[in-house]
Amino acid sequence: MANTILVGAQWGDEGKGKIIDFLTEEADIVVRSQGGNNAGHTVIVGGTKYVLHLIPSGILRSKKMCVIGNGVVIDPVAVQKEIDGLRGQKIKVSKDNLLISDCAHLVLPYHRALDEQREMKKGKGKIGTTKRGIGPAYGDKAARVGLRMADLMQPALFSEKLEQRVKENNAVLKAFGAKPINFKAVNTAYLEAGKALAPFIGNTVVYLHAALKAGREILFEGAQGTFLDIDHGTYPYVTSSNTTAGGACTGSGVPPHRMDRVLGVMKAYTTRVGEGPFPTENAEISDMLHGMGREFGSTTGRARRCGWFDAVAVRYAGMINGIDDIAVTNLDGLDSLPTIKICTHYKLGRQTLEVPPSDFAQLTNCQPVYIEMPGWQTPTHEAKKFSDLPKTAQTYLRKIAELSGAKLTIASVGPNRDQTIVV
Ligand code: IMP
Ligand code: MG
Repeated sequence: MANTILVGAQWGDEGKGKIIDFLTEEADIVVRSQGGNNAGHTVIVGGTKYVLHLIPSGILRSKKMCVIGNGVVIDPVAVQKEIDGLRGQKIKVSKDNLLISDCAHLVLPYHRALDEQREMKKGKGKIGTTKRGIGPAYGDKAARVGLRMADLMQPALFSEKLEQRVKENNAVLKAFGAKPINFKAVNTAYLEAGKALAPFIGNTVVYLHAALKAGREILFEGAQGTFLDIDHGTYPYVTSSNTTAGGACTGSGVPPHRMDRVLGVMKAYTTRVGEGPFPTENAEISDMLHGMGREFGSTTGRARRCGWFDAVAVRYAGMINGIDDIAVTNLDGLDSLPTIKICTHYKLGRQTLEVPPSDFAQLTNCQPVYIEMPGWQTPTHEAKKFSDLPKTAQTYLRKIAELSGAKLTIASVGPNRDQTIVV
């Protein structure tokens, strides 16, 4: 399989979890390198549903090593709960299949409180975050006042630093008129989680380099999507990490020249959860998908906003990530439509744009230009090979690949492992 970076080419929720699970079969190691438990990957295996937030979905296959890299922000209590939940579902989680970076930053309760307060203060201008404290945690990392896994592994040092941080953050929370954080309670809960996590904590960079040397194959699983990237996304309506391909390098310590391939995952249409510009948003397709019980968030349960496939966005995602291959998911979501639209360009005043403008106000004013394709109005979820798909569905997929400038390699027609077509 070679070393593959898998990224979301849209606004997250592209169905990456399922594709990762599928590709994991050929990989030796699966790495998470950015984001936190704002992510939610849903994987269905043998009729059982697993929702993963922090732990790489590789955990669902035995004999695969899962690594949480330095670029991830971790709520130790949440990860501990996730491990317990998986064990409850009879999934083996031990130090033989999970390694967590000692450089990963911790998400603390004051991050969550601040996330919530800032969102509330913004009112109508809110970002629509998952309220998991992700932004404030990365903020502390950049401000060099974050606490890391390595700190948590040294209880006395951790408590001392935490007390200081709680004091400072309580002053900020007070200014917001919010409830202060209780140092003692947090200290106890975190140290307890730290103790349970201790066997998993180590130097992931050294581990990954030894694995590279031994010729083991690594899959880097991206969380969120290209347009939620802190640098390249629809700022400020973004998450706080680099969700694009470069994030896999900085978030894991594996250098760029050791990466062999970038796979972009995209839905056959577009969705976005939370606020922010979304040029191809469409009420009818939203209603249709929600009516089918689809497109509700796996982390927050929120209904996702839905729209037509946006080739302008995906073209840009191809550039930023260096996408070689694409996986198109949720094709079956379009099964009932008589005609399907694809946005090929944006109009901004009299200008025709090939790529999205960086400015948020300009993007908000962009009008999508569509082409129309005939639908197939046939269920596709039983197709096993590309040739099993209706001709019009094949044409639609080919068109998406052509407009994305990458090779179509996977099409997904349902949530199960066996509903995956290798092209
Ligand atoms: P945060 O990451 O919780 O700060 O949220 C910032 C923005 O990213 C919001 O619009 C969220 O809805 C969005 N977001 C964060 N994580 C995910 C994800 O895993 N899938 C889809 N959207 C996400
Ligand atoms: Mg998700």
